[in-house]
Amino acid sequence: MKYKEVYGQWQADPEAFWMRTAEAIDWIEPPTKALFADDPANCHWFADARVNGCWNAVDRHVEAGFGDQAAIVHASPITESEKTITFRELRDQVALFAGALSRRGLKKGDRAIIYMPMIPEALVAMLACARIGAIHSVVFGGFASHELAARINDASPKCIIAASCGIEPGRIVEYKPLADEAIDLAARKPDFCVVLQRQQAIAELVEGRDEDWEEFQKGAEPSSCVPVEGSHPAYILYTSGTTGQPKGVVRSTAGHLVALHWTMKNIYDVEPGEVFWAASDVGWVVGHSYICYAPLLHRNTTVVFEGKPVGTPDAAAFWRVIEKHGVRALFTAPTAFRAIKREDPAGSLIEDFDLSSLKTLFLAGERADPDTISWAESHLRVPVIDHWWQTETGWSIAANPVGIEKLPVKPGSPSLPMPGYDIRVLDDEGAECRRGELGAIVVRLPLPPGNFPTLWNSEDRFRKSYLERFPGYYETGDAGYVDEDGYLFVMSRTDDVINIAGHRLSTGAMEEVIANHQDVAECAVVGVEDDLKGQIPLAFICLNSGCEKEHSAISAECVRLVRQTIGPVAAFKLAAVVERLPKTRSGKILRGVMARIADGRSYKIPATIDDPAILSEIEVALNSLGYPKTN
Ligand code: COA
Ligand code: AMP
Repeated sequence: MKYKEVYGQWQADPEAFWMRTAEAIDWIEPPTKALFADDPANCHWFADARVNGCWNAVDRHVEAGFGDQAAIVHASPITESEKTITFRELRDQVALFAGALSRRGLKKGDRAIIYMPMIPEALVAMLACARIGAIHSVVFGGFASHELAARINDASPKCIIAASCGIEPGRIVEYKPLADEAIDLAARKPDFCVVLQRQQAIAELVEGRDEDWEEFQKGAEPSSCVPVEGSHPAYILYTSGTTGQPKGVVRSTAGHLVALHWTMKNIYDVEPGEVFWAASDVGWVVGHSYICYAPLLHRNTTVVFEGKPVGTPDAAAFWRVIEKHGVRALFTAPTAFRAIKREDPAGSLIEDFDLSSLKTLFLAGERADPDTISWAESHLRVPVIDHWWQTETGWSIAANPVGIEKLPVKPGSPSLPMPGYDIRVLDDEGAECRRGELGAIVVRLPLPPGNFPTLWNSEDRFRKSYLERFPGYYETGDAGYVDEDGYLFVMSRTDDVINIAGHRLSTGAMEEVIANHQDVAECAVVGVEDDLKGQIPLAFICLNSGCEKEHSAISAECVRLVRQTIGPVAAFKLAAVVERLPKTRSGKILRGVMARIADGRSYKIPATIDDPAILSEIEVALNSLGYPKTN
């Protein structure tokens, strides 16, 4: 069947399409229908079913005779180690850990925060939660304690599962002290913590609250899989919005199982038993969907990679893993390929490896620039497929579904909508744009299975952020256009979110941190173009009158503050002190204009600007930081 037929089948009868797709899942009680919706904005998929996510990802493969197949390969060039875990071993580890969590009182509906690096135990912890119906919330290790505390306050977890440390090139990041600090900062305290001690840094445990991972499990009864309703939240994943308060994206169980399973063959073109590798982190949605759940649901071996595309130890790290493990499909962010291309522009390291197992490279997380696509295509000699999605959606909104039919690739475009998504581009008044005309990208409601039904604790914010501006549609927050052939081009965000090395961060959150500095009167953070990371943040800072401190000292303090508060992942290093910020007469800061000046792009001076002379001051400040870049 061709893409058009599959998409057409969904359009003709969405209910039948999703019920048929749902047959791939083992139900404890099957759903009687797919969509449960009192209005299109409030919909739940397979809500009356009963199911268990862990059973579908792990146990059923053991029962079906695939217990000896590798479920997880932990490839860790940063620790120079490697380990394989079979489905049977994974089931036993997950069941025991789940049993220990239950014994300590974690039960269906309770939240557990997981703060771990790229180690198999992170997946064990996620799956153990799924096994007992606990709701996990994984927090990326590059976030600092303040961010972790914000998530603890919002999710009010009964427990925190952490590793003692993560390992970054040249340094050990001690996670446990960060977790301790976050617990101190948080208004709500977890009942208990489980700490996996890694030999690179042994953490101190707090008596009565902290449990050692190994000791904690001794004598526990392995837990069976607890049935949950189809609409039961499988997890909460916090993502950046326009303010410092992260948004808790909720993922319901059944829709996520059905949709993710469908994507493995239809989008990623892998068969059960093959090796699939998403080189991301479990702290991001890519990690949830494509390191943990989807490959395991589909009985693929998943690679948990603890390293970097370059420097661990070199720009051949990816090729080594692909050759050794026979990876069939690789999924990463374009920034990883830009990093490799920078180190090995001729791609000569690639020639030393047998990459014949690799059939496709998938890119997402940020706009895939045509240069990176063509470099990867010419050196890997496989199709390079861009696809577009978000934490909120959990899987691709637009893709090139190579498992159905490889559509012609248009560099710069993630191709066409996937079944379930009716994509439109709207202008400011909500009217549909013409082909080729830039506008807000929206999806007609209801969103398909696997998408978020709400934000944790924040139904109001959910409606305000996503549903109010264009009634009847989900507002993606991305801007772009659809060309004559129906191909989508995603160009930029319409809000204060920026994309740093495929990581989504809020400039608003950084502004909140900088504004807390005692000498800062006001500030604005914008995303500027960066050859490696796509975008990086740059701050313009105005000081309180009478402040005599050196400007460079204040900039450095703000950089430190953001690193300590949000975390190193914000990659915030550029700050300029300015006298004033350019604003409209109504007081709106002209961030877009400042970003264009920094990027050396042409800009129009808005008619509403209060004082155009300020723009020259901004130019001078940018020049002092080396912006706009001349090459
Ligand atoms: N725990 C603690 N710190 C972390 C971390 C983690 N899990 N992950 C990153 N950091 C730190 C890094 O050490 C770095 O700190 P530094 O400022 O002291 O150097 C900072 O956060 C920024 O990290 P990163 O974005 O990884 O930048 P980098 O300069 O170290 O590496 C790339 C650049 C392109 C190699 C890297 O971003 C990369 O591999 N990206 C792959 C894309 C990806 O995984 N995207 C996810 C969505 S698909
Ligand atoms: P996240 O929620 O962290 O996955 O980030 C989602 C955002 O990343 C999207 O809203 C886009 O702005 C951007 N993004 C992800 N994939 C792509 C892509 N293929 N092309 C362009 N932008 C992308």
